[in-house]
Amino acid sequence: MCGIVGFTGSADALPVLLSGLKRLEYRGYDSAGIAVFDGDDIRVVKTRGRISELENKINELSGFSSQCGIGHTRWATHGEPTDENSHPHLSGDGRIAVVHNGIIENYAELRARLIKRGYTFRSETDTEVIAHLLDYYYSGDILAALSKVTTKLRGSYALGVLCADRPGEIIAARLDSPLIVGLGEGENFIASDIPAFLAHTRDYYTVDDGEIICLSKDSVTVYNSDLEPVEKERMTVNWSVEAAEKGGYEHFMLKEINEQPKAVRDTVSPRLENGRIALDTDIPEELLKSLSRIHIIACGSAYHTGTVAKYVIESLAKIPVEVDLASEFRYREPIVSERDLCIVISQSGETADTLAAMREAKRRGVRTLAIINVVGSTIAREADFVLYTWAGPEIAVATTKAYSTQLVMLYMLAARLAVARGHISPDEEKTLAAEISLIPEKIDKVIGNTDTLSYLASRFHNHKDIFFLGRGVDYAAGLEGSLKLKEISYIRSEAYAAGELKHGTIALIQNDTLVVAIATQKALAEKMVSNIREVKARGACVLTIASEDTRDALAAVSDHLFTVPACFEKFSPSLTVPAMQIFAYYIAVARGCSIDKPRNLAKSVTVE
Ligand code: AGP
Repeated sequence: MCGIVGFTGSADALPVLLSGLKRLEYRGYDSAGIAVFDGDDIRVVKTRGRISELENKINELSGFSSQCGIGHTRWATHGEPTDENSHPHLSGDGRIAVVHNGIIENYAELRARLIKRGYTFRSETDTEVIAHLLDYYYSGDILAALSKVTTKLRGSYALGVLCADRPGEIIAARLDSPLIVGLGEGENFIASDIPAFLAHTRDYYTVDDGEIICLSKDSVTVYNSDLEPVEKERMTVNWSVEAAEKGGYEHFMLKEINEQPKAVRDTVSPRLENGRIALDTDIPEELLKSLSRIHIIACGSAYHTGTVAKYVIESLAKIPVEVDLASEFRYREPIVSERDLCIVISQSGETADTLAAMREAKRRGVRTLAIINVVGSTIAREADFVLYTWAGPEIAVATTKAYSTQLVMLYMLAARLAVARGHISPDEEKTLAAEISLIPEKIDKVIGNTDTLSYLASRFHNHKDIFFLGRGVDYAAGLEGSLKLKEISYIRSEAYAAGELKHGTIALIQNDTLVVAIATQKALAEKMVSNIREVKARGACVLTIASEDTRDALAAVSDHLFTVPACFEKFSPSLTVPAMQIFAYYIAVARGCSIDKPRNLAKSVTVE
């Protein structure tokens, strides 16, 4: 996600801002920019691309220096990566500059209102709305204006603001996006994350939701939303810079596992209006109504979300769904028709096999809908329709939060399809929407219960073969649980449809084979009990992942039991997969594996 840095002091601000932004590069970005005071004006330099390109543009300002400014690295959500969409954004008169991390969910209505009041926009971003709103409410007191603006915003924000009438000062505010204040000697900082100013000071204030901050080089004042000063506890960092980049987590993968509730919430909440699902894509309702078949094409974990979606879409929308590995689809001369829809799922939006398969589908006249995490990526640009997941940048090679946001996006799409085709009522849609909006807090419960999972990992980290068994969406979830284990712990693993095991593969079950049985579907619980008995009769040790609704049926036959919260049953992979992510993570840690960069793997496979 985006990175924010701010500095006010006696030193030249430009190198301080650039080095701070470089310390935030790990957060992932596609453009960068700075705004600094230039006398009683504000000077902005910004660019699409890497910080090095920003540095080149700044170096052209030879001889210029400033003692106060703000900087930003952008991870695109609204509007592709371009110079104009880069932050900072300016008010029309150039006297107010804003950098922002987060998502303004009601930016479209605010933008429309401002345009009606004569404002003109230079970018496609949600952030520019904030710059013009500040201008609209500014009447000489930028703090009061910012306080007023925050009451108009819905969504999440960490803001850094410069006002030309207050040279040397930085104003900031936060809601749901991280922001901290660095406390130096004769200099002060704001940042999204500690590494940005760790080279200058280890002392800081945390900023709580709703608070507004005013910094100068000699003072920091924190206000509540009513602009009453509040006392803050001075904190001191005892982390290394490297640890700070991971937010205190040992690995990016663990950080991203724990970011899943927020990533899912960021993906879902902007698409819920009055309890109903409003997908922000221009796919025509008529197309949704007239579809004859859906083809889901993806690779790896993205393919696994497609295997879950098959059960959900067919059950809710009564449309036949085929799920294909992209590398197979592109060569198997697929039978498709122009009344089909091809859903292409990809975190990076650059996976070569997925891109080629999408092009093959388009060549055959099929409309394509891409579910993508990287705004402006190749697949996103070439698809007919796009739905972005807002997981933020995913650094660890093994995907976790992107997978979870793809799942909820597919659930929302399934519900919309079901409503459009008259298979569920608006009330039933609201029930599903409510179920989906409860997923983040339920994921929180799962990942907060790591003691059990880390204990079980300590028991099984030396196993050679591990099987994942399940039926229905539990089988689809097992595919992802097995892949997570393989790719980060290098333990051979296989996911199997529980009912299929007896047709041959059960020959591999022997004494002490570990079987992870996933059993959250009430109607299939008894079948899973039988399958567990089958493998236990051959010496297997069984770890069962059940739901609160199925645990009683499974407890007696399981050697170990992990329970996830009850939910709308077809959505249970959103809860069982995070449990398996944690299980795989602790097994890999116990085995001393390279967690974030597993051997032989790349984050985005841009070659065939
Ligand atoms: C998942 O943990 C793997 N890193 C890999 O399977 C990945 O899901 C696959 O390469 C697809 O990548 P994409 O989502 O960027 O297209």
